[in-house]
Amino acid sequence: MRNKVTVVGAGNVGATAAQRIFDQGYADVVLVDIVEGLPQGKALDMQESGPVVASDAKVIGTNGYEETANSDVVVITSGIARRPGMSRDDLLLTNMKIISSVVQEVAPQSPDGILLIVTNPLDAMAQQAFKVSGFPKNRVVGMAGILDTARFRTFLAEELNVSVESIEAYVLGGHGDTMVPVVGSTTVGGTPISKLLSAERLDSIVKRTQDGGAEIVNLLKTGSAYYAPSAAIAQMVEAILLDKKQILPCTAYLEGEYGVDGLFVGVPIKLGAGGVEEVIEFDLNASEAEALRNSAASVQELVDVMANAG
Ligand code: LAC
Repeated sequence: MRNKVTVVGAGNVGATAAQRIFDQGYADVVLVDIVEGLPQGKALDMQESGPVVASDAKVIGTNGYEETANSDVVVITSGIARRPGMSRDDLLLTNMKIISSVVQEVAPQSPDGILLIVTNPLDAMAQQAFKVSGFPKNRVVGMAGILDTARFRTFLAEELNVSVESIEAYVLGGHGDTMVPVVGSTTVGGTPISKLLSAERLDSIVKRTQDGGAEIVNLLKTGSAYYAPSAAIAQMVEAILLDKKQILPCTAYLEGEYGVDGLFVGVPIKLGAGGVEEVIEFDLNASEAEALRNSAASVQELVDVMANAG
């Protein structure tokens, strides 16, 4: 029997993620959206690509939640997206309500599933999903670090004219302006990045990475990124379904790790069938450790705003 993955939200991020998961072929996919006909149409279109992409997986679209029952992974992408000039935090209270109502629907249908949160502002939405679901901390995880790290690796590979696969890097912290590309442990084929690039070039690539989401929003004008985000989602789903125990930067609930307690922040985790199986504690230098705590503090501010809003 194939695994089952639900994707809530049939917009660009959700539908592209559903497509990538369908293409992988080892999970049936349920695509949910409130717009009538949209998830059904996209799902049928995807299903009809099966013979060409060699996937026998089933994909269905629906406006309800019954079909999502007993999903192994529930990916939540619902929410309003950024427009030019809008920060991720502007989305906070609107998306908080959307996430709460989606989680109230999906959690009882898939009580043993893993919630994979994608909606922005990401870390705060993961926190909200954790609270509303009542799931254990290992079964709520957020996607952002892989995306931010992919941007960092893309820019470094371009700059150094090497394969993206030869760049080992991690971007940690909240998915926002305070994210922390961990320069100290970034290597290119084993060589520390500081030996290959001037501090000035490195700073500018770090800055471009931190502004990576806004760069796309400013180009697209009517929406935000989805190809790289959906690729990151598909990698996480694969790590869970194939129990890969892959070390990936994701948003996870910390209880003392990195000096952060009771908060979702982007950190390296071991991702497998149990969800967040372990939080990996890197050796950070003093300024990186401080940057990570600062980033956590900005996530905490959002969580406090949500708490005050009820
Ligand atoms: C990004 C937005 C969607 O990073 O958060 O692309």
